Amino acid sequence: MTSLDITPRSTTVAPSPVGPGGVVPSDATTLDIAEQLARERTLELEQEIAAEPGRFRVLTGDRPTGRLHIGHLFGTVANRVRLQGLGVETFVVIADYQVIADRDNGGDLAQACVDLVIDHLAAGIDPARSTIFQHSAVPELHQLMLPFLSLVTVAELERNPTVKAELAATGGRAMSGLLLTYPVHQAADILACRGTVVPVGRDQLPHLETTRLVARRFNARYGAGTLAEPEALLSETPLVLGLDGTKMSKSAGNAIALTATPDEIARAVRGARTDAERTITYEPERRPYVANLLRLASFAGAGTPEQVAAQIGGQGAGALKALLTETLVESLAPVRERAALLRDDRAQVAAVLREGNERARTEATATLAQVRTAMRMVV
Ligand code: TRP
Repeated sequence: MTSLDITPRSTTVAPSPVGPGGVVPSDATTLDIAEQLARERTLELEQEIAAEPGRFRVLTGDRPTGRLHIGHLFGTVANRVRLQGLGVETFVVIADYQVIADRDNGGDLAQACVDLVIDHLAAGIDPARSTIFQHSAVPELHQLMLPFLSLVTVAELERNPTVKAELAATGGRAMSGLLLTYPVHQAADILACRGTVVPVGRDQLPHLETTRLVARRFNARYGAGTLAEPEALLSETPLVLGLDGTKMSKSAGNAIALTATPDEIARAVRGARTDAERTITYEPERRPYVANLLRLASFAGAGTPEQVAAQIGGQGAGALKALLTETLVESLAPVRERAALLRDDRAQVAAVLREGNERARTEATATLAQVRTAMRMVV
């Protein structure tokens, strides 16, 4: 029997010689430095969280742009479930307004939100312990955007590498005002719910630095201690690639959906890229395609990549694919079953979202009141 091992692998790196940061990274070098600092701090944070989970609140989220795949499951979602399991209060924002930052039309956003809720619940997010909400259902969150926008300059936003990367990914679109201000909107998501810890990958660090900057500048202008500066819990870059060895994404056709059927899993794995060497070994640098399949099997519960390689040895890529298919089918079965039950129970999913929206709205309302009081707007 295999079980779903969704514990992200830990990262350990040497401390950086650089002192505390404080600016939004604006190029690859400053992003490297920010990453190094965040990495160091993450090691300490993990210990603090494990010791006193009640002191922290996680705020994390996604844009509802499609069903989750196993790359998300073994990466971000597993990390959310892990933090929930440690006893940290967790808020997951479904950033529906942000879908239109870099496209003309969000499509059926309601369905996309429902799908995201179903996938999270199926993967182990427990609505009794965690809050999942739609940010369009929390008007107070967006009202925070106005004072927050006054705290950053257009030049700062234009330098944000994440904004630049997101614009580049649109393939030639003009920058929309919503995309340019995405980091400030994300600051509103985080600060409205008073998240103190934000699990992010390197690519999202600039956005988090903008959030910290907004909180610091607000406090400096209007009153110390109004907004808590959240910290990044840096997760390593996802080790799980798609079946062709490039970044896993639905649009690239190299992903396996969280709710894939055994047939779909088998077909996808059969088509996965390998190499010409018969004996299976775990050599990530020299044999990236085989290494990726070994890691996938490992995340799905088959043991360490080295153990799986040793087990397959001279039996070749066919045997590796058979083992990977079997392990994925078995580990995803409970997720698929839970998702199917939820799909037939629209009322339950709607209730989870409604309650989450209410809880988030309570937080955002309180934060907005504090902000307006600090700004001496309340008559
Ligand atoms: N920008 C994030 C992404 O593209 C999604 C997101 C929106 C988010 N609001 C957030 C993440 C708040 C963390 C916190 O993945």
